Amino acid sequence: MPPEIHGLIFDLDGVITDTAEYHFLAWKRVADEEGIPFTREDNEALRGLSRRESLNTILKGRPIDEATAQNWMDRKNTYYLEHLEELTPANLLPGVPQLLDDARARGLKLGLGSASKNARLVVSRLGMESLFDVIGDGYCVVNAKPAPDLFLWVAGALRVYPTQAIVFEDAEAGINAARAGGFFTVGLGNAANNQPTIWLPSLEKASLGEILARLS
Ligand code: BG6
Ligand code: MG
Repeated sequence: MPPEIHGLIFDLDGVITDTAEYHFLAWKRVADEEGIPFTREDNEALRGLSRRESLNTILKGRPIDEATAQNWMDRKNTYYLEHLEELTPANLLPGVPQLLDDARARGLKLGLGSASKNARLVVSRLGMESLFDVIGDGYCVVNAKPAPDLFLWVAGALRVYPTQAIVFEDAEAGINAARAGGFFTVGLGNAANNQPTIWLPSLEKASLGEILARLS
């Protein structure tokens, strides 16, 4: 029996738009100012992690006090916000508008589940405020990905069961969160290794009809 799918839940950074580069540039600026080595490769491990967990990962065990940690996170966010000023609807990743239109036409509910405290601002800069029924962001739950809490929060607000929803994710932490919550998963790009239900290189040529058929 094919599963009944009633909702789609999208991660934001790396799925709807490529703000991972902006996160990298902002953390890189702080790391350079503080003389901490941080490469583009290191940045891959930060995908999907909260601001605090990103800092912990960059620090690699270097001890800093709480006031310093807050200062670094605040500075990183200031730099990140500067980059967001460049963001426009042209920064939607290829395939996203078509997929959302198709989902709407099929009567599916649409949710966003992002670890970012800036998710609403990003969605607004992309001109997508009216497209999602529910937006879950970095303020909604205490336990960030890879805990399932955020996706469960979004599913609850959408009134769909996890077993009736697909989570689209580009990050290891996000796939693990969705799997722990009992959702179907579409893993994009580097998320191949985390056993998503379906893996796609990107959403560029994605067909919702094919995705739904592959769940059967
Ligand atoms: C996630 C990004 O969406 O949001 C992470 O993938 C980022 O890289 C996290 O650290 C938190 O974002 P923010 O905007 O709250 O610092
Ligand atoms: Mg992501």
